[in-house]
Amino acid sequence: MNNQQELLNKIKASINDYCDTYFDFGFNPEKPAVRLHEPTAEGAEINAALVTMLSTYTTMGKKVRAFEQQYATYNGTKYGVMSNSGSSANLLSVAALVNPFTKDHLKAGDEVIVPALSWSTTIWPLVQHNLIPVMVDCNINDFNLDLEKLEKAIGPKTRAIKLVHVYGNPCNVDAIMALAKKHHLFIIEDCCEAMGAQYDGKPVGSFGHVGNFSFFFSHHISTMEGGISVTNDFDLTETMRILRAHGWSREADEHQKYVNLYPEIDPRFIFINLGYNLRPTEVNAAIGQLQLPKLNGFIDNRRETAGFYKKYLSKYDDFFHFQQETAKGKHVWFGFPVILKESAPFSVHEITAYMQQRNIETRPIIAGNMARHPAFTMFEHRIAGDLTNADTVMKKGFAFACHHGVNQAAREYVVQTIDGFIETALANLAKKTG
Ligand SMILES: Cc1ncc(COP(=O)(O)O)c(C=O)c1O
Repeated sequence: MNNQQELLNKIKASINDYCDTYFDFGFNPEKPAVRLHEPTAEGAEINAALVTMLSTYTTMGKKVRAFEQQYATYNGTKYGVMSNSGSSANLLSVAALVNPFTKDHLKAGDEVIVPALSWSTTIWPLVQHNLIPVMVDCNINDFNLDLEKLEKAIGPKTRAIKLVHVYGNPCNVDAIMALAKKHHLFIIEDCCEAMGAQYDGKPVGSFGHVGNFSFFFSHHISTMEGGISVTNDFDLTETMRILRAHGWSREADEHQKYVNLYPEIDPRFIFINLGYNLRPTEVNAAIGQLQLPKLNGFIDNRRETAGFYKKYLSKYDDFFHFQQETAKGKHVWFGFPVILKESAPFSVHEITAYMQQRNIETRPIIAGNMARHPAFTMFEHRIAGDLTNADTVMKKGFAFACHHGVNQAAREYVVQTIDGFIETALANLAKKTG
């Protein structure tokens, strides 16, 4: 073995040693804590990242291409275009659908329906491309677009639906695809919370024109930051590849076509379209290649945790409303969301403060009704019908951990803490009503 290989082996062994010794994110009954997220990467991923950096081939290249194909195959789609975040994947897909390279592309002033219960960067790419977001309420059972309100929101200017599979629960894809067919709409799936989720046995992100995923730290698997757009449409893929990097043709499969068309321009710098720089790095892809095979196992644990929470907490049905898995859907539980019913004699603030004091992290369900956020005062949008349920989610909802690392001891700590809170709340109420 040469010196270089020996040195590499030593580095890897040290990293593995370090991780074996200090990477312990499991539940510790001595110091109980249940954080919203825990790292999904271990020594192998860190080593792959380091080896990639040491190779000095760090900017987007072969590893990104290989990971794109690996992910697209996992997701049952032909193509994948990786970018540096889920937000960038959302941006890239909208930019491509607006671009003149796309047949019958979206145009300034066209309306795109979005769920009010979504994320900022589900919506901003629409605003950034002079499209008009039309905010539609969610259904209080599955938390996804309310199908009746959705149909009513479709008007003469509606050209697309940008749906979200909220918290990992697949939308009723049959109903939405039927609407899309009837009204000739593009479907963009924001799957940033729903990696690995399925509808009728098929992965989300494979139904619409394009599906976007996030590999941020808090998601089902992570490449540190990262995202991917998947599609079966070759032309859309090529456009996304071009827009992702400056607008040059270099990463397009049909690059040679442009080289032949413009022989007078240096083939490395043919700007064939407008563009951004939304590229991921080889380091992100190297991590992703090792993370993806772990995804299904992580999802199994999330589903087991959610099943336990639902079963155990069902005794509090008078106080808690839970998200219901869509019929034909496989939910992947980005977190565990809960809504307080009107009959609950306590507030979200009270229960989350109690949990927080006992080191159980909580958060709002996504960020509630996006239309209530201050940024919306600045940009043109339309609110279709009432947003009552999204408001309820915002005012009465909270979520806690359901990730790959939540084991049985952690689950029991969470539900026993909730038992403790409710016991105290009911005792206080009894004293007051006395
Ligand atoms: C629905 C939705 N879309 C987009 C994003 C953005 O993903 P990223 O953080 O990778 O930019 C998120 C983030 O969690 C999300 O929940």
